Amino acid sequence: MQIRLDGKRALVTGGNSGIGAAIVRELAAAGARVAINYVVHPELANALVAELQAANAGAASAVAVGVQADVSDATQVEAMYAELDRQWGGIDILVNNAGIDGAPAPTWEADPANFERVLRVNLQGSFLCARSALKRMTAQRSGVVLNMSSVHERIAWSGFGAYTASKAGLAMLTQTMAQEAAPFGVRVLALAPGAIRTPINQNVWSNPDSLRDLLTKIPLGRMGEPAEIAQVATFLVSGAASYMSGNTVFVDGAMTDYPEFAHGG
Ligand code: BGC
Repeated sequence: MQIRLDGKRALVTGGNSGIGAAIVRELAAAGARVAINYVVHPELANALVAELQAANAGAASAVAVGVQADVSDATQVEAMYAELDRQWGGIDILVNNAGIDGAPAPTWEADPANFERVLRVNLQGSFLCARSALKRMTAQRSGVVLNMSSVHERIAWSGFGAYTASKAGLAMLTQTMAQEAAPFGVRVLALAPGAIRTPINQNVWSNPDSLRDLLTKIPLGRMGEPAEIAQVATFLVSGAASYMSGNTVFVDGAMTDYPEFAHGG
């Protein structure tokens, strides 16, 4: 089985760093044209565009473009899709990857503004981007939306109520959108990574004590690498996964087993 995405037009939100950047690289390697959405650090998006252009020097048209938009802002999302329409005439693959985890605090000490911000980026932002994508995909009767969830759509995480709630919400939004879009031949899936070494959790893996504690919760005994998520993401948005829709695929080193694992030692 060879996974190819030649001719496909993909948008990856938060594509300028971490898991998003790994997905951008993998989709481009499979032949897709990729729009790299970002809200801050344009220099990272620009560097990634340059890297992909250099790797595809012979390509007839641009294989990568950077598009700035805050996914939680409906007006900016509309403008981003208008730009993709102008450049590409539409979209075939959306990876809703942009996300934040927010400032940790037990619920009774949590800042309501922080809670709202996390929900706005992770859940409302995914909704807004999927809404614009599905409008186009259902009309053309093809396309895939992949929502980046987390093991924390299923397992609790003290101090991160907004994050866990946003990911659990995203899981059900995925199922509902999949049901709505299925009659149009459009698939909607979620991918739930476990602990992957990226900037979002650098504070955990750069501290030996918190890393040791984290590893006791991962049966495979190590953190994952962004490429291990990107490979599965590429498979899920490809024709090789044509009969998959409406659920969450966990890529977590068996971390969702961890309560039992921790007890059983
Ligand atoms: C979070 C990471 C965390 C991992 C496992 C992810 O959703 O973004 O910070 O390490 O879950 O707990």
